Amino acid sequence: MKENGNEMNKGSNRRNFLKKGMAAAGMAAVGAGTGLLTGTKPVFADGRIDPGDAAILRFLCAAELLETDLWQQYNEFGGIQDSEVPGGSGSPAYTQALANIDDDMAQYIHDNTQDEMTHEVFINAYLASKGAQTVNLDHFRVLPSSQASGAQQIGRLTNLTELSIDTSWYTRYRSANKNPDFGDTFPQAVPTLKTGRHSSIPRTDAELNDPNHVQALANTATFHFATIEQGGTSLYASLAQRVTDVEVLRVVLSIGGTEIMHFQTWHDDAGDAPPLTDVDPITGEKVVFPDLNAPPFGGPLFQTNLIMPEPTIFLSRNFPRCSIIRPTATKGAALGAAKFLTEMNLFKGQSPAFFALLFELAEAADAARRGF
Ligand SMILES: [Fe+2]
Ligand SMILES: [Fe+2]
Repeated sequence: MKENGNEMNKGSNRRNFLKKGMAAAGMAAVGAGTGLLTGTKPVFADGRIDPGDAAILRFLCAAELLETDLWQQYNEFGGIQDSEVPGGSGSPAYTQALANIDDDMAQYIHDNTQDEMTHEVFINAYLASKGAQTVNLDHFRVLPSSQASGAQQIGRLTNLTELSIDTSWYTRYRSANKNPDFGDTFPQAVPTLKTGRHSSIPRTDAELNDPNHVQALANTATFHFATIEQGGTSLYASLAQRVTDVEVLRVVLSIGGTEIMHFQTWHDDAGDAPPLTDVDPITGEKVVFPDLNAPPFGGPLFQTNLIMPEPTIFLSRNFPRCSIIRPTATKGAALGAAKFLTEMNLFKGQSPAFFALLFELAEAADAARRGF
């Protein structure tokens, strides 16, 4: 995916995809409108809404569609399958491993999934109500489902079987003197999740026979939950700063707040993932979940019950330390989110047209300027 992400950063390639494949692929999926391109730039229909606000909402809607797709996969295996979140039939071994971390996990997965579904449906309905172009990624539901019992056999937008998960949010929120908006970087809580390629769901029934491995899948999932939701937490706060209309600001703040609630829940659960070492029986990839409360971990950066944001520097070092969401810098925030998800390898197997669309929506959102 890195190759794809880099490829997408080469503007001319991306434009070519848009020019060539617009009708067949990406741009057609954005909405039913025609004449989306003027020259080499797509022009989205904005109706009775500030164009920048529409662009921000469209990128958020795409992010919500992607979140829904990944959360749906988790719910099919480890959540509660019901009329609110239909699909799948559960994986008892995986569900039990998640319950070893928190016995409310199935309910939380269900509710997080339902929340994401309502986010994308609402934002699209809001855009449509203003006569603005909506977002539809159905064309890209082409990635395979897991073959393990419990999953629906349908096309997916996201791939949960080869993830590289950045767990630096864990120490970022515990730091008392650093902030990513000042250029600071942070150590990983689970270094092997970042360096390797890991599945967070069972791929086959055969791998469910080893309880240690199933626990490794559940641990990986729990850190992935928090990694995704801390991303949403920062994304909404970052993009809100460039919204023009007060009602759109209300939409962004109100939905963004639930991403924060999700993140806090998963942050707490991630600290309860039992320490273990596992070698993936399919890929041979090793993962180590360290005891975060014992040396060389432990202390203020790793202690597992320190889940409230530690006050840190904000805006200027001259101000007193403050407990805050971080990062929240608005410049390039949408592009940063698109890169973050791509580098996670969440879209492994997706087409160039998919990346073209994702990055085009991000660029449009980042071009939005607050007006009055
Ligand atoms: Fe969401
Ligand atoms: Fe979310």
